[in-house]
Amino acid sequence: MNIKWDSKNYTENFSFVGKYGEDVLELVDEGKGGTAVDLGCGNGCLTEKLAEKGYRVLGVDASEEMIEEAKKRHPDFEFLKADAAKFRLEEKADVIFSNAVLHWIDADKQEETAKNIFSQLKKDGVFVCEFGGKGNCEMVHSALEKAFEKRGLMYPRTFYFPSVGEYGSLLEKCGFKVTYAALFDRPTEQKTDKGLENWIRMFIKTPFADMESETADEIITEAVSSLKDELYINGKWFVDYVRIRVKAEKG
Ligand code: BEZ
Repeated sequence: MNIKWDSKNYTENFSFVGKYGEDVLELVDEGKGGTAVDLGCGNGCLTEKLAEKGYRVLGVDASEEMIEEAKKRHPDFEFLKADAAKFRLEEKADVIFSNAVLHWIDADKQEETAKNIFSQLKKDGVFVCEFGGKGNCEMVHSALEKAFEKRGLMYPRTFYFPSVGEYGSLLEKCGFKVTYAALFDRPTEQKTDKGLENWIRMFIKTPFADMESETADEIITEAVSSLKDELYINGKWFVDYVRIRVKAEKG
């Protein structure tokens, strides 16, 4: 799924994406001079953390806007605009790391993506990732779906949110040995009073793509107000994130 990113808004208001990614980095060993790819590097905030672990780093992202932002913020690192299912490295990597990215890739491209990641690792290389798992943001998606259906519209479910069983099996089919896998709830606090509305406008683009802005506004307002009792807690909006976190080896 290709969307046009507002990289400035992303950097200013959605920095939690990178902050949470720092926990995932704990699954990556210290580098000893090896190479690491930050797959779906966005503005490069975690590429920098990988470099701090002692790796020579390369950030890869499919978005031109994000690659531009990453290069501006980190002129010393290398970045490559490329698709996760197709990127090719000059030198195979010791680590491929990916945070909050794989759910953007359509389900029918996941096998090609996993095979590509496997092919771009050295023998004994490691793949570490975290992204939306089964049930991710389901309260938000359900509320939007209801508001779409009320207007005779279909809400397309475009994200890939697998269970541990599904994703672990896919990686094994592609040749990986899965050494760690977990699925867990991670209610995620939003920065502003309009937090849920801003979150929807930032991340849920495809279903609204060909819609009049008045209809989109109505749907968003209705969905947000229907979720207030459950997701607005002590003056803060929380989104009902569920994460899948995996470590796998190319043996
Ligand atoms: C996520 O990071 O889980 C996510 C982001 C945007 C839309 C859906 C899920």
